[in-house]
Amino acid sequence: ATPSGPYDALIIGGGPGGYVAAIKAAQLGLKTACVEKRGALGGTCLNVGCIPSKAMLNNSHLYHQTKHDLQKRGIDVSDVSLNLPQMLKSKEQSVTSLTKGIEMLFKQNKVDYIRGAASFVSPNRVAVKLLDGGETEVEATNIIIATGSEVAPFPGGAIEIDEQQIVSSTGALELQEVPGKMVVIGGGIIGLEMGSVWSRLGAEVTVVEFLGGIGGAGIDEEVAKQFQKLLAKQGLKFKLNTKVLSAEKRDGKVFVKTQSAKGDKEETLEADVVLVSVGRRPYTEGLNLEAAGVQLDNKGRVVIDDQFATSAKHIRCIGDVTFGPMLAHKAEEEGIAAVEHIKHGHGHVNYNAIPSVVYTHPEVAWVGKTEQDLKAAGVKYNVGKFPFAANSRAKTNLDTEGFVKFLSEKETDRILGVHIIGPNAGEMISEAVLAMEYGASSEDIARTTHAHPTLSEAFKEAAMAAYSKPIHF
Ligand code: FAD
Ligand code: NAI
Repeated sequence: ATPSGPYDALIIGGGPGGYVAAIKAAQLGLKTACVEKRGALGGTCLNVGCIPSKAMLNNSHLYHQTKHDLQKRGIDVSDVSLNLPQMLKSKEQSVTSLTKGIEMLFKQNKVDYIRGAASFVSPNRVAVKLLDGGETEVEATNIIIATGSEVAPFPGGAIEIDEQQIVSSTGALELQEVPGKMVVIGGGIIGLEMGSVWSRLGAEVTVVEFLGGIGGAGIDEEVAKQFQKLLAKQGLKFKLNTKVLSAEKRDGKVFVKTQSAKGDKEETLEADVVLVSVGRRPYTEGLNLEAAGVQLDNKGRVVIDDQFATSAKHIRCIGDVTFGPMLAHKAEEEGIAAVEHIKHGHGHVNYNAIPSVVYTHPEVAWVGKTEQDLKAAGVKYNVGKFPFAANSRAKTNLDTEGFVKFLSEKETDRILGVHIIGPNAGEMISEAVLAMEYGASSEDIARTTHAHPTLSEAFKEAAMAAYSKPIHF
């Protein structure tokens, strides 16, 4: 639609934070527009993040399972081979159907979709350089910044991403050939997910991680250790406590120079493709925030208060471009809460109950405090653990690796954290999130009937273990 302001709410950025905020604002009766410069809605998540990576994870898992796992289940297949162009096409189809779906939702909810790049002219006016050419100006009473994040470049410029041989996650979703050898710099979530994809498709993958454990921030150390063991069993190699210094392209290869964290050993790894996955950083380029009086902190994040308001109070900010974990569901919750602040003067996100999921196989999922957090804070707690190897459904499915671990407060039995490594962990963690939202104890979960035979009985039994004893282990 041709923008016809002034608007009650203008959202800058059409990612999970921005598009959800826009739909919610329109649902609450605000005249709303959303500006997006990418040419498609859905942001990083739908276009080059969550969705394409999960398509590749799912399909590479099916391929790997068909090749290596079906026979023992009594299914004989022959001539299993990889059709990578088709796998990439199928990923693109998932992406397009979802991004187009959001355009439909905008129409249904009467959100004006302005295709172009926004830049502040004054605190209430935004200039938009339109993708179809020309420029327009839009006025709004309330503005929400939801411009997201971008790949953090390798510090000091020592490694240049070309998205062909030295790739970020974006290039790693588009490789036209399975690399012989792949070096992954950074054993965080992106490194492990994309490393898994290419390893399953046949690459020899080495993950170099500066810290002593994998999985990035917030993972429970016991889970991280088990996770590393299982990925190693699948063929991924790990070099922990090792820092990458540089990567140099020569003779069609990339040579990655590493140094032990202590600084006493250096090594050069040869690779066909290198994935740089050392984090993401907030994105505010071209927004001209000075014209609006919006301040950033020293990490480039937009500074907000507990009502998502920036230093200019009618301009709010949500998602990856401000504080907190860079997760799509966190951005979405903030989008809704920020709009509720505009409309009703109140809105809330519970930052103690935001789940994290790594979509490898098995999946890893957690919410709340880790054991190392509780130790550091001097909190007295109980641990309830239950292995999938003792769960009937996991055994039936021949998929028994991993465990569920409950952490509950010793005195009150209140659930403080839940950590799962195992089949379907990403779906199962929602039960823990719900329990924590309701202030449940592990006994509450333990006394709740879970259908038999399901994987979630492992969840119930871990809760039983936390407050008393499990039955099946
Ligand atoms: P974004 O999604 O980054 O959207 C911001 C949008 O704003 C962009 O489309 C951008 O083009 C637009 N924009 C920026 N500046 C302007 C401007 N001036 N004018 C107009 N438009 C502008 N999270 C999960 O929860 N689960 C996952 O499985 C997951 N997988 C991921 C996999 C990968 C490979 C990556 C890279 C990320 C993944 N994430 C995942 C993280 C997730 O993508 C982000 O947390 C999420 O997209 C943040 O949403 P956002 O709305 O804050 O920002
Ligand atoms: P990350 O912060 O999770 O991990 C980066 C890792 O690189 C860290 O473990 C760090 O110690 C290591 N590192 C940094 N510099 C290094 C060096 N020079 N040598 C060796 N190791 C080095 O960042 P990542 O994986 O890039 O992901 C970015 C964000 O995207 C995540 O934090 C997450 O919020 C989001 N994401 C979420 C997903 C999900 O929810 N399933 C999937 C993918 C991304």
